[in-house]
Amino acid sequence: MKPLVMVTGGTGYIGSHTAVELIQEGFEVVIVDNLSNSKHEVLNGIEAITGVMPHFENFDLCDLKRLRKCSEKYPRLEAIVHFAALKAVGESVDIPLDYYHNNFESLINLLRIMGDYSIPNMVFSSSCTVYGQPDHLPVTENSPVKKASSPYGNTKRVSEEIIQDAIRANSTIRAISLRYFNPIGAHPSANIGELPLGVPLNLVPYLTQTVIGKREELRVFGNDYNTPDGTGIRDYIYVVDLARAHVIALKRLLESKNKKPYEVFNLGTGKGYSVMEIINTFEKATGEKVKFKIYPRRPGDIDAVYADTTLANKELGWKAETSLEQTLFTAWNWEKALNNKK
Ligand code: NAD
Ligand code: UFG
Repeated sequence: MKPLVMVTGGTGYIGSHTAVELIQEGFEVVIVDNLSNSKHEVLNGIEAITGVMPHFENFDLCDLKRLRKCSEKYPRLEAIVHFAALKAVGESVDIPLDYYHNNFESLINLLRIMGDYSIPNMVFSSSCTVYGQPDHLPVTENSPVKKASSPYGNTKRVSEEIIQDAIRANSTIRAISLRYFNPIGAHPSANIGELPLGVPLNLVPYLTQTVIGKREELRVFGNDYNTPDGTGIRDYIYVVDLARAHVIALKRLLESKNKKPYEVFNLGTGKGYSVMEIINTFEKATGEKVKFKIYPRRPGDIDAVYADTTLANKELGWKAETSLEQTLFTAWNWEKALNNKK
């Protein structure tokens, strides 16, 4: 019998790519999502790639009663991969209570049912935002966790603490937190990808929308950062490589490969690219021209952040494999596929 796994936020961007990898690796997947930031049709994309339609439960994880019912419906659940969260940094400053309510309540409810229904394992979506502007680059897992610059970032920092406290109080629970750097790109089939609702906040979807003609020009936020070309440097990780890391982390928990009940891993490529390098690589990968203009800095942005991935390489045996050029090519194919649907 296939191991049964709950994927919360599984119709979202990273969750859908992970659901695909899990199904392809022989897992049976139950997606729980309230579709607050995703669409039901993502399930068709997952089915088109894998040939399997995952179980789907549409409800809000803040609803503990409903979550209990779901756990009773799937008594064989062995693990939870927890992606569901609100994630827009700027929005979290405007509606902090919604962010704290949604991101904490859903996590606490999941930790409760893990204890109550003997679901011992969790893989949690964290973020490199917990490091703030690091004092040293690249960032290792031992770099200090800094005071968050937004309520969103704070939910990630405190969520990691909540998980550790829950584990201290209940020795049957184990978890791995994965701190993502900047996930980009889409499935090579272009059946699933990122679906930004409204104007994209992140660099790559804004760039692809500019090239397709939905936006007038890409605004490069600042060229006076302390970096070689003055534009901000980030560690862009291909979403499918990131998804694969979840399967490995999950197997590590299920096979009890690690003795520690709680572990943290950085998931990045280990290499930082500037905004100008992203533009140039995109042009090279696709043959398209990117119209851009330099704008003032975006408040809250930092000069540079990229990962030291030694721990994930060594302990998980995982490494990001896809080049930036290939990754940006998938992002462009996805943008074109979205445009053809309309
Ligand atoms: P996403 O918005 O595409 O997916 C999240 C999904 O969770 C959505 O489908 C949404 O409908 C669902 N959801 C939210 N609250 C819910 C609730 N209370 N009940 C049920 N469903 C709920 O986001 P994503 O980019 O796929 O991010 C997934 C996770 O990774 C999030 O926890 C995010 O904070 C984290 N993360 C993302 C990035 C990034 O740049 N995308 C970087 C670091 C960490
Ligand atoms: N940028 C532009 N123009 C844009 C958008 C972004 O120049 O239109 C620049 C930013 O200034 C930054 C870089 O591109 O230098 C990357 O910006 P993103 O918005 O794509 O990503 P961030 O690094 O700001 O933030 C992302 C996620 C956050 C998460 C953080 C750390 O959006 O949720 O990574 O994990 F907290």
